[in-house]
Amino acid sequence: MTEDLDNQVATLKELARLQKKAAAGVVPVSSEMLHDTLSQRKVPHTMAITSGKGGVGKTLVTVNLAVQYARKGLKVLLIDADLGLANIDVVLGLNPLYTIQDVLSGQMTLEQVAIQGPFGITVLPAASGVAELSDMNEGQRTALMDHIDQWNADFDIVLVDTGAGISPNVRFFVLAVERIMVVATPDPASVTDAYALMKVMFNNHRVSHFDLVVNQVKNSAEAKDVYRTLSRVAEKYLNIGLNYAGFIPDDLMLVQAVRQRKTVSELYPSAPSSLAFGQLAENLMRILQQKRQDDGRMVFFWRRLLEESVRKAAAARLSSSA
Ligand SMILES: Nc1ncnc2c1ncn2[C@@H]1O[C@H](COP(=O)(O)OP(=O)(O)OP(=O)(O)O)[C@@H](O)[C@H]1O
Ligand SMILES: [Mg+2]
Repeated sequence: MTEDLDNQVATLKELARLQKKAAAGVVPVSSEMLHDTLSQRKVPHTMAITSGKGGVGKTLVTVNLAVQYARKGLKVLLIDADLGLANIDVVLGLNPLYTIQDVLSGQMTLEQVAIQGPFGITVLPAASGVAELSDMNEGQRTALMDHIDQWNADFDIVLVDTGAGISPNVRFFVLAVERIMVVATPDPASVTDAYALMKVMFNNHRVSHFDLVVNQVKNSAEAKDVYRTLSRVAEKYLNIGLNYAGFIPDDLMLVQAVRQRKTVSELYPSAPSSLAFGQLAENLMRILQQKRQDDGRMVFFWRRLLEESVRKAAAARLSSSA
């Protein structure tokens, strides 16, 4: 109930803001219009992959999902948001010359820094081993948001690999996307830390929906056990909705692929983990498509695109009714 109210308030606030913006032509923007526009997929779907505990498989889940979507012909952007400890480039066998940090220092644009990965995936790499860059200040965060907002590229889906835990950087990226996927393993420390992460996001930022993927499991039953444990406490103590997105089995072929700096989905398409990544990608796309309208969680990245398309939809509606 509280959650519904929160969502409604967020939607109303956003609509009020959009209406103000559209006031140039004094075009009213209804929530129906906004939803119509969103469902036309002019704004990319955005998802952050995060975890409480480190080393649970965030990066591998992110890059393999990217490969799955790119193979289906979607235009994918992969953002390495683990600033300071980045390693998407390593996992994908890429050698980037520049990183997000060059954009933050004002020396380069996102277009100049972005590189092409397998299957045409666009990768926004970050630097590794640069401690002072691991946390952006407020000004840098706003600047990065503006850069992304101005980026003229028509991505279908944007996947953000965050660092572990609840640092200001992680919160920034997590609050900028449509869906937040938490990765956990059956390790009790990972489950406890996943709960702690959701608790902070809920208590401090009123984030009330998460998707869960359980990694390194023996089978689906083990994954469901982890899901049940977490969702029970999340619902009981936090009023959070936790959605089961799927599982990835513990798979030696995945480790082999990492050693060869390739994704398992490319090297061993019929490995158990590759098949699971395929299934996870499907589940998540279904969730993204179904939930965009329901959740009232506004897209933060590509706000400009969103506003433009809402204005166009409003203008079209106005001229058709004239
Ligand atoms: N499904 C799996 N099967 C086997 N090994 C796995 C699996 N998932 C992850 N691993 C192992 O865990 C390691 C860490 O994975 P990954 O780098 O994706 O974790 P991470 O959550 O991104 O870590 P960090 O918090 O440091 O960013 C991998 O290099 C691999 O050895
Ligand atoms: Mg990682």
